[in-house]
Amino acid sequence: MIAADTTQLRFKPMRYGGSLDHLEYVEVAPIIGREYTKAKIKDILKADNVEEQIRDLAVIISERGVVFFRAKQDDLSVDELKHFTDMVGKLSGRPKENGLHVHPLYRDPGNIPMGNGETDENIYVINSEAAKKLYKTMPGKDSKQPKNLDREWHSDATFEVCPSDFSCLLMEETPAHGGDTLWCSGYEIYDRISPPMREFLDGLTATCAQPVFKNACVAGNYEVMSPRGSPLNVGDSFSPVHPVVRTNRQTGWKSIFAGVGLHVTRINGVYDYEDKMIREYIMRLITQNHDCIARMHWTQGAAAIWNNSCVWHAATPDTHLVPGAIRTGIRASSIGEQPYLDPASTSRREALGI
Ligand SMILES: [Fe+2]
Repeated sequence: MIAADTTQLRFKPMRYGGSLDHLEYVEVAPIIGREYTKAKIKDILKADNVEEQIRDLAVIISERGVVFFRAKQDDLSVDELKHFTDMVGKLSGRPKENGLHVHPLYRDPGNIPMGNGETDENIYVINSEAAKKLYKTMPGKDSKQPKNLDREWHSDATFEVCPSDFSCLLMEETPAHGGDTLWCSGYEIYDRISPPMREFLDGLTATCAQPVFKNACVAGNYEVMSPRGSPLNVGDSFSPVHPVVRTNRQTGWKSIFAGVGLHVTRINGVYDYEDKMIREYIMRLITQNHDCIARMHWTQGAAAIWNNSCVWHAATPDTHLVPGAIRTGIRASSIGEQPYLDPASTSRREALGI
């Protein structure tokens, strides 16, 4: 087995130190995901070696893409969820000046409160009732044609100059079925592309324009929140340029990043039909390789934490088919570095010699 030379990398890859060996787990799939069957996030926060455990957890999340905590995390307060997510980013080499993401539309008077009736600028509330109201006004909602769920795939806060590195979602309430979330490994998708195509994609960037935020602020007559978790995430233009292939800061492995997804609006420097073709090609790789996907069937109080720089995720909008279903989750997101492609980095399989 020949391991890659990592000495030239911009960030030294993090190594797992063994502090979580006492926790019971199963891998969700060979390629992606780990599920801790009994662990409580609260216990990690209370441990004497909390920093060591969180640093090790950051390594596992970054290598496996996403980690599920199956046991009920209902003793975890909102502040603890925020603190935990912040620590994972901080202890894995996030820029010192960064923190948790602030949702651009936090000043919207119609914002949905959390289960406790409060709002928090660092917490994004996912709520099935609010989604139903939103879909009522959506064009084409009465269409008899099957929905194309391609549009659900995304990486959090790609519309920011510094997107999210880690997001943690805690499911407060969920129906017995419906509303699953899927994560797909950007590392493995990159590894399934031929060397000449990889070289071509390595040279591309994409514009991630998301005008909905500015439009919503103008329509609602309120100011967009700013800064949003980084001194670089300011203003209301929301149109950063990101690399199509990026290096994961924690592992040093390459992943497809801004080549596809809800917030990716244009592959730069190519003709219109080529832009469409490239994005459709990457989307097809996601849908044709479902062994690269981990699926979370939510249970009440379960949590998931993922590394946005090496996975995309997609919600499954089917809870409206379950009578009386209520699904509410709260999410905190840490803001990472400005995405980069390190020329010294390699793919995951190359780095591991597999
Ligand atoms: Fe998301």
